Order: sequence, then C-alpha cells, then structure tokens
Amino acid sequence: MKGVILAAGKGTRLYPVTKVVPKPLLPIANKMTLGYAFDQLKDCGISEVAVVVGENEAAMREALGDGSAFGLSLSFVRQPDPKGLAHAVGFAKDFVAGDDFVLYLGDAIYSEPLAPFVQQFRDRGCANLNLVKAVEDPRRFGVANVEGDRIIKLVEKPAEPESNLAMAGMYVFGPQIWDVLPDLQPSARGEYEITDAIQTLVDRGHEVVAGVYTGDWFDTGTLPSFLETSRFLTQNGQLVALDASVKAEMGEHVVVGAGATVECGRLVDSVVLPGAHVRVDGDVVGCLLGGEVTSPIGLDSAIMYGDLS
Ligand code: TTP
Repeated sequence: MKGVILAAGKGTRLYPVTKVVPKPLLPIANKMTLGYAFDQLKDCGISEVAVVVGENEAAMREALGDGSAFGLSLSFVRQPDPKGLAHAVGFAKDFVAGDDFVLYLGDAIYSEPLAPFVQQFRDRGCANLNLVKAVEDPRRFGVANVEGDRIIKLVEKPAEPESNLAMAGMYVFGPQIWDVLPDLQPSARGEYEITDAIQTLVDRGHEVVAGVYTGDWFDTGTLPSFLETSRFLTQNGQLVALDASVKAEMGEHVVVGAGATVECGRLVDSVVLPGAHVRVDGDVVGCLLGGEVTSPIGLDSAIMYGDLS
C-alpha cells in the first residue's frame, strides 16, 4: 500500500497568505498541515508517499525533503495545471506502479484514525473504498447512494439527495483506477472529477465500497474552515510559541507562531504565522496574519501577508 497526497492547488481562497506559504505547509496549531496527513498515512502502515505538487514545487521540495524528517520516504510528482483531482492522481501512476494506494487531499484533517478504512478495503477485496460521512445538508457535497456498504451511484451536489452520505476526501484504490482515468471528460466546471472516475468504476461493474466515518473532518481551504480547524486542534485555547512576544489582551483561540511579535488591543480567534510582526491599533478578530502587518484600525476576518493583497 502506498500513499498519494494531492497538494498541487493554488489555494486561492487563502490568498495572499498562500502566495507566500503553500496551503499544505501552513501551520495549524503550530504543526504543518501536511504533518497531519503524514501521521495518518504512517498509522495506516504506509511508508512510501508521493506528493503531487504544482507551482509550489520548489517550496514543497525544500520544506519536505526526502521525507526522512517525518519518518517517510517522499517522492514528488508535478501536475502542470490544477485541472481536478482525477487529473492530479494520474501523474502518480508510475510511482504507484500497480500497488494499492490511499489518496489523501493535502488540506484535509481528520480527528479519528483512518487505518480501519484501509483494513476494510483489504477485507472487502474491492476496487475502491471511499470515506463518507453522514451530514445534515448533503446538497453541498458529492453524495454516495449505497446498498449495504456498496456504492451504487455518486451524485455531485444533488438538489434532492437520496442519501446523507457525503464523500469525505479520503479514498483507497486498487489498480483498476488506471484503466478509467484516460476515458474521463472534463465536468461542467472544466475539471477531471474524482467522483466521475469512481462512478465509472461502478458502471464497469467493479466493487466500490463506502467506509462510514463518524469523526470530525476538516478542510483547511477557507478562512472560516482554517480557523475552525485551528479552534478544534487547540480546543479553543491559546497556543503561543515560547519565543513569540504578545502585547495584547488574549481572547479565546489564539495561535502565535515561533518568532512572531504581536501588539494590538484584543487578540481573539486568530492565527499569527511564525516570524510575523503584527502591530494593530485596535482589536484583531478572526484573522490569519503573516509577514509585517501594521494597521491604524482593528482587523476583522482578514487574511493578510505584509503588503500583499
Ligand atoms: P481545492 O481546495 O479544491 O483547490 P485549491 O487547494 O487550489 O484551493 P482554492 O480552491 O482555494 O484555489 O483542492 C483540494 C486539494 O486537492 C488541495 O490539497 C489541492 C489538491 N488539488 C490538486 O492537487 N490538483 C488539482 O487539480 C486540484 C483541483 C486540487
């Protein structure tokens, strides 16, 4: 079993911070986002992992090296343009070399172990297992219609969902996937969709299984979801690096990274990245800040990296 982590996106929803620090390298609760993925894959007994990178390749290679610092053997494959998850995974074919593999989205964080789902895939001897989670409003998600634990149909953002099981961003594939990828067409939004690849596996009679996950599942891709993930991991507490300096009234859920300095009124529900210097005449609430940030007024729900916008 190998691991493939998709980390080639541009992370536009966290601009400008992700212009400087690729989203998979952003610290959450002062630990690199991908560190959570590495821990999950190691817990699944996986030691060989490919990271699919894009424009961020140089920064990713420099930060991750050969993986030995994380107890893994890491390879990098380049996706020239982010044209969808099924496009991205195709570049990992030579790395996977006919093995089974876990496909993991680089901005996903799970509160519970994923190893039981790798075991379920093995026990079932199926072509593909997809993590699904029961959600209250499935209309925003790819939704799996099931019979027992078999997925019989996938529907992308259904207006009238027939199931409440949302696709939850972790997949286990056997080699059958490689026959399917070349036949995919771009979707209405112009991307090669992993849900289309899985539907094609179903249509061709392969056994496709749902693994029902009941823990918390976070995606770090927007400011609200980044802060929600951070809140969860810090249990709403204050996590200030030992060498950081904070002159502010500290509220709930604050993370200040190594070497950072902060001077402001109240600092609440915010993340200050390592090495940042923040001076704000007012309160900082619900923000993600990096670089040299100065402001004559308070900041609310801002993403800032120095002067970038
Ligand atoms: P997204 O969050 O859909 O895309 P993104 O990371 O580029 O962010 P934004 O929409 O803000 O620009 O991607 C989910 C994960 O999949 C993320 O870790 C990046 C990765 N990905 C690829 O590796 N290749 C791709 O073609 C796409 C679309 C995503």
